[in-house]
Amino acid sequence: MKNAEVLKQEILAKTREYYELVHKPVQEAPFEPGQSRVAYAGRVFDEKEMINLVDSSLDFWLTYGTYSRQFEQKLAEYLGVQWAFLVNSGSSANLLAFFALTSPLLQDRRIKRGDEVITVAAGFPTTVAPAVQFGAVPVFVDVDLKTCNIDVQQLESAVSPKTKAVMIAHTLGNPFDLKRVKAFCDRHNLWLVEDNCDALGSKYDGKLTGTWGDIGTSSFYPPHHMTMGEGGAVYTNSHLLKRILLSIRDWGRDCWCDSGHDNTCGNRFSQQFGTLPLGYDHKYVYSHFGFNLKVTDMQAAIGLAQLEKFPSFVEKRKQNFNRLKSALAGLEKNIALPEATQSSDPSWFGFLITVNDGMPFTRNDIVEYLENNRIQTRNLFAGNMTRHPMFQTLTEGVDYRICGKLKNTEKVMNDSFWLGVYPGMRDEAVDYMAEKIREFIGSRA
Ligand SMILES: Cc1ncc(COP(=O)(O)O)c(C=O)c1O
Repeated sequence: MKNAEVLKQEILAKTREYYELVHKPVQEAPFEPGQSRVAYAGRVFDEKEMINLVDSSLDFWLTYGTYSRQFEQKLAEYLGVQWAFLVNSGSSANLLAFFALTSPLLQDRRIKRGDEVITVAAGFPTTVAPAVQFGAVPVFVDVDLKTCNIDVQQLESAVSPKTKAVMIAHTLGNPFDLKRVKAFCDRHNLWLVEDNCDALGSKYDGKLTGTWGDIGTSSFYPPHHMTMGEGGAVYTNSHLLKRILLSIRDWGRDCWCDSGHDNTCGNRFSQQFGTLPLGYDHKYVYSHFGFNLKVTDMQAAIGLAQLEKFPSFVEKRKQNFNRLKSALAGLEKNIALPEATQSSDPSWFGFLITVNDGMPFTRNDIVEYLENNRIQTRNLFAGNMTRHPMFQTLTEGVDYRICGKLKNTEKVMNDSFWLGVYPGMRDEAVDYMAEKIREFIGSRA
């Protein structure tokens, strides 16, 4: 009979072999312009992710376990925050972050139904969806065209006695003006949730995005800065928010025992909660109407291997961005090129291009040309969220508010698109994207 450890090592060695045979990128394969597909994003991994995944599947713990605990600790260390918690997607992270702010434990500062949350419409729907799902009122402010981030000049006119929070993303990795937004939140006693799903590794004033506000969120879906398949995280420095986040993530329970553990507090059967009988089992006491947003340990195992590589991913994203920007220099009369927010060092998610007014071609013309040449493109997500069918059942002025005119948001919806700069992208692919853009503009302008 084989010893289990020996057998496991054999399986892991075979996993490495399988990776080499099936998944290892072939470095020598030439990039073939017009043939090779230029994806906007993709997983970048090696045998370590697969070995971790197989190792955790052999453990067969399945739910939150050793890998999850290690991942949360390492992510918190990387971010320089006290706590980071895994969830099953970036959307779940936003849901959890928002619902945490509705907790009765926050007393007067809790978000109640009908309270307002300042946000933008040029972004991803699940930054805003939790507010609507709860019955709060999103207040949409325009973006500035240079960065497609919130136009901070509009903040004061968006505020009302009902405003409780600002919840916005750092668009495509480019930080919003954190200093101004944070000062605004502090002045009006508002919560700040940073949707950091597209910006992990970005810095503002030398400090990582996602760590400036009360809660930051991440997505680990494959196109994002690192992946575990499906996955996400929330992070905070507040002890009270930490307790609330954990409760709402894990069914709304009051008990904070780790999975597989009982009676960590030693008071499992001796406390009084609500109008329950004295000593009702703490394990089944619920302080919130919660969800179950947890991941499996197998996802965390993949994430842990990705986290090791993460700093190199950020560097490669920056290099690809800079290479593409240099290669497109001189086209600014035709297309607006992305610019890093002042005082920031972005870990770029994508390269945003906006067709200037009065050009003899449209965004869709250039996008079609690139796609026909095997270059993948993306719009800036929802463009103007308020124009989507999901808003048709809502009433403006009641269920949501638009502050001023969303002029730049409309421009982004009509005239912007973005290209990838992900770490798996080769220099030849970056150069090819620039060449095709030049070729298209040369033929039209
Ligand atoms: C800004 C932003 N927030 C949230 C999400 C949702 O992340 P997930 O796909 O992991 O749910 C995305 C997804 O791309 C996003 O771009």
